[in-house]
Order: sequence, then structure tokens, then C-alpha cells
Amino acid sequence: MFKLTAKALLCAAFLTAGASLYAAEGQPIVIKFAHVVAEHTPKGQGALIFKKLAEERLPGKVKVEVYPNSSLFGDGKEMEALLLGDVHMLAPSLAKFEHYAKPIQIFDLPFLFDNMEAVDRFQASAEGKALLASMEGKGITGLAYWHNGLKQLSSNKPMHEPKDARGMKFRVQASAVLDEQFKALRAAPRKMSFAEVYQGLQTGVVNGTENTWSNYYSQKVHEVQPYFTASDHGLIDYMVITNTKFWKGLPDDVRAELESIMVEVTAEVNRQADDLNKEARAAIVKAGTSEIIELTPEQREQWREAMRPVWKKFEKDIGAELIQAAEAANRG
Ligand code: LMR
Repeated sequence: MFKLTAKALLCAAFLTAGASLYAAEGQPIVIKFAHVVAEHTPKGQGALIFKKLAEERLPGKVKVEVYPNSSLFGDGKEMEALLLGDVHMLAPSLAKFEHYAKPIQIFDLPFLFDNMEAVDRFQASAEGKALLASMEGKGITGLAYWHNGLKQLSSNKPMHEPKDARGMKFRVQASAVLDEQFKALRAAPRKMSFAEVYQGLQTGVVNGTENTWSNYYSQKVHEVQPYFTASDHGLIDYMVITNTKFWKGLPDDVRAELESIMVEVTAEVNRQADDLNKEARAAIVKAGTSEIIELTPEQREQWREAMRPVWKKFEKDIGAELIQAAEAANRG
């Protein structure tokens, strides 16, 4: 569906976004910010802090409506809605941009970043910043990166080594890289929207998945997954995006204030994200429903080796130099 609509939407975005998105004279500009996760998560909090600061500092000029939990648009629909001007801000996970900018797939490469400090360094680098601007020709402006954190595996059976994943069905985000990551384990990936994850696991359509602790706990995944493997094997972060035409058409003073608020919100989201994930992990332990499996360094190395062939497959689309820049961020 993405392939079919991306070009048509691009034209539609340029034709419609300018005129129809602004309120009548004297009325506040309404900014609809939609996302797919719960409020008590890094992104959920970020959207609320953005609303609070925007309405405090631009009183009467701006009204921000936040729609969490796929309540306005979910995966698969939200990007089209942004291009059509039906929503003005989104923060999709970085796994969800492959139809708009292939190099952004870099963030899905398994075991690319050693820790969140390396992610910070890469996102702040010239290469990282260039990715924010890489979809402008398609009508999408990247405003900021927001952290969630590192991914963990979940399953209906204990997984210590890559061979334990063989033959299992894993829910993945709509990402070719993540699809290949599970194929490399000889498992069966299945693309599914975030809103469908709980039910998919509950009914056995899939047996496992990957996500952060805060997404697991807020979606009650621990109720339907008896095992988690603390693998830290990949990243879930976000790009806060807006419709380029909408953003450029805002009054200069409003846009400048919103951009400075975004810098502040980003710092706060990135400061809180790790705590929210730690808190969620502790809550899963407390719930007593699931075992959390820790990996030995040797086991972790086995997972890395098993998933590593994925890098070569996407090197051309992503760009070898960009991958080198990300690797350099691990060295400080
Ligand atoms: C997912 O679809 O698994 C997540 O990336 C959702 C999100 O936005 O954190």
C-alpha cells in the first residue's frame, strides 16, 4: 500500500497542506499529534510535554491535540494522514521510514550501537542530522530524534541462544531489515501493527516479538509472554516529523518558538527514557508473570554473529559510509 500511495500522496501533500491546515483568523492553530503507544512511555510523555510547553508559551496561538494509542491513526495509516494534512505531527519508530528514505534503515541494523550514548553521538553528528532533512523532497520534515531504548526479545519459550528462536513466529514492525533479522535466525517474521501485538501474541498468531521494556509493560505483553531475553540487540527510537508545507507555512515567530520547545522536549524525553524503561522492567519482575533471561557474554556474541549477515544485505541501500559513521559513534 505504501508503494502505491507514496507518490500520489506527495503531490496531494503539496496541493492541500498549505491552504487547509490553518485555523481562521484569531483562532489558535490546531496541531494534531498522533502516536501509537501508551502515555506512560518515553514518546507518550514527550508528546504531552510538547503540548504543555507549546500551549504555555504560545497562549491563544497554538492548541496541540495529542492522540495516543493509535486512537487517531495507527501504523500503516499515519504517514499518509500526515502527507494529506489530516494530522500534523507524528513520531514513528525509526523502523517505519523505509518507503520514504532507505538510509534511515540504519537504525534497525542489529547490534549496531553499543549503548544509548553511542546513539546520542550518531544522532547529533552531521550524518545523523542529515537524515532528519532527508525526506523534505517528499513533504516530510524531521524535527528531532527521541529515544525509547534498546530492544529485548520476548517469547513463549526460553531463549538463551539463537538456535532457540528457530521456527518461531515473531511479530516485527514494517521493516525489511527486521524481517531479515529474524530470517537470519531461521525464524518466521510477521509484520503487524503495534496495536495488534497483544492479541497476536495471545492468540498464537505469533510466538514472540522484540520491543523495549516500556512498550512491553504498557501493552501488558508480560501477561501473554512467559519469557523475556534481555538482549539489547537493537534500537527503538523515534523521528518526530511534520508535514513540510504545514511547518514552513506557520508564522515565523510560532515556528521558531515551537522549534526551541522541541529542543527542550527532546532533552527531557531522552533524559527520562532510560528511567521509564528501568521502571517498566521492574514492574514486569514484580508482576511475577514472566522470567527474564540474562545472557552470558558468550551467548550475546552468538546472537550478534547470527544476526550480523543482515548488515551486508542492506549496505547498498543504507550506504557503507553511513554505517561506518554509526560504528564510529561507538568509539566516542
Ligand atoms: C512498535 O511498533 O513496535 C513500536 O515501535 C511502537 C512505538 O512507536 O514505540
